[in-house]
Amino acid sequence: MSIKTRFLLSYVAVIIIAITLLIAAGFLFSFAITGDVKAIEHFYKKSYVQKPLTTVEESAFLDLKVLAKNSPQQLLDIEQLQKIGDSSIGIVVRKDHQLIYTSHSNHEQMLLNSLPGFEATNINTRDTIMMENSFYTYVKFDFYFPDDTEGSIFVLKQVSSHAEVIRELLPILLGILFLFFMMIIGLLNYLVSRSIIKPISTLKEGAKRIKSGDLNFAINVHSNDEIGQLNRSFEEMRIKLKDSVQLQLQYEENRKELLSNISHDLKTPITSIIGYVEGIKDGVANTEEKMDKYLTTIYTKAKDLDLLIDELFLFSKLDLKKLPFNVETIDLHQYIRDYVEEASFDLVSREIHVQYTSFNKPLYVMADRDKLRRVLANLLSNSEKYMDKQEKQITISLLEKSDEVVIQVMDNGIGIDPNALPLIFDRFYRAEPSRNSQTGGSGLGLAIAKQIVLEMDGDIWVTSELSKGTSIFFSLKKAEEKVRNSEKNITN
Ligand SMILES: Nc1ncnc2c1ncn2[C@@H]1O[C@H](COP(=O)(O)OP(=O)(O)O)[C@@H](O)[C@H]1O
Ligand SMILES: [Mg+2]
Repeated sequence: MSIKTRFLLSYVAVIIIAITLLIAAGFLFSFAITGDVKAIEHFYKKSYVQKPLTTVEESAFLDLKVLAKNSPQQLLDIEQLQKIGDSSIGIVVRKDHQLIYTSHSNHEQMLLNSLPGFEATNINTRDTIMMENSFYTYVKFDFYFPDDTEGSIFVLKQVSSHAEVIRELLPILLGILFLFFMMIIGLLNYLVSRSIIKPISTLKEGAKRIKSGDLNFAINVHSNDEIGQLNRSFEEMRIKLKDSVQLQLQYEENRKELLSNISHDLKTPITSIIGYVEGIKDGVANTEEKMDKYLTTIYTKAKDLDLLIDELFLFSKLDLKKLPFNVETIDLHQYIRDYVEEASFDLVSREIHVQYTSFNKPLYVMADRDKLRRVLANLLSNSEKYMDKQEKQITISLLEKSDEVVIQVMDNGIGIDPNALPLIFDRFYRAEPSRNSQTGGSGLGLAIAKQIVLEMDGDIWVTSELSKGTSIFFSLKKAEEKVRNSEKNITN
């Protein structure tokens, strides 16, 4: 059974029960107040049965009233009375508790009992009485006969019997009830379907789409109730799933690209190594000078290969978190000064000017010496690789922050396109996809640097301006901060 049907059935049940209880309560209530079961009957009588007299009956009543006012003794004349109304009109003349005349002679006694008493003021002249399960509506006029006895004239009209009233009212009542019932069911159904069924259907639809592999839709949530929360969680799940699928696809793409890159990068030096070796074998390198040149080339190409393989190996180990880190307190100022001094030998020979600016005071940070060296080497090699100026300038600076030290490596190279900026730390990403040998690289340099910096609790970011230059920043936690933090952790 669907939820919708279940709700529908439960409304029907609730409404039936409610109506039954309401009727029962109504009966009990009126009984409790009046102590009389007939009170309800009275209600019907008052509300539904008071129908007006016909014009013929009204004019008969007026005739009688004129007689009663002007010559009441004529009301004792039966023949006169018979003339006033035909037999269909119920006329009653009463004189001092005696019925002088009645057109319905069959229940005189009952009429005497049921008709209202004398009232000289003639205020309550119209009402309904009940006789033998039948309702009668009447008009009354009270007057005095010449002998000063109390006289009353009535024109009566049978309205309907008790059963008839019920019979007459029942369909209307039932109709109203049914209408009411349908309206409530309709309304409840609308409300429930809007607040429950619809969101559930949306959820079902969403689940179906996810099942079929479609994640490109959104579940709009408007309510904050349990179902709204469920839909919200579902929507979050869809977004996460979509992200992870996209990431998966991205990985897949990266892997394919890497494979093709590696193949290309391995193939180029190997092809030239093979070429040079064949040259030696065929005796092309017939002079010592040529031989030396050939061997040097083979050696450099093999070195390049070795480097590339190292890089891949390092990255995969970092990626798998399989590389041990030997983090220790080091004086960054001295470390970088030494590093720059050492690197300058090489760089100066390629006309690159390296400058180091610092406060000239010890700055203790927590870092792994070898890994830090790797990061700096990668950054410097990029600055060198992506350099297009005559005056090649690389500046390394230290910036001290409250709990960390930021290292800035700035160059005046080609700069990075703003669109590429967020991607350069991604594995295998290269802003310039054509892999010429001069700027060739795996696209792993910055990814490796990022992995290392993150592993040492730092952060890495970039600012760049196209054709002006690039600054790569990375931060390292200060040593004393580390000590303080770990002390805090211990005391906590
Ligand atoms: N100093 C820089 N100047 C200009 N572009 C840079 C610089 N450093 C990195 N890039 C860009 O970021 C990309 C990713 O760098 P990296 O991960 O080291 O890969 P690779 O050097 O192998 O290309 C580079 O391909 C390059 O486009
Ligand atoms: Mg690089």
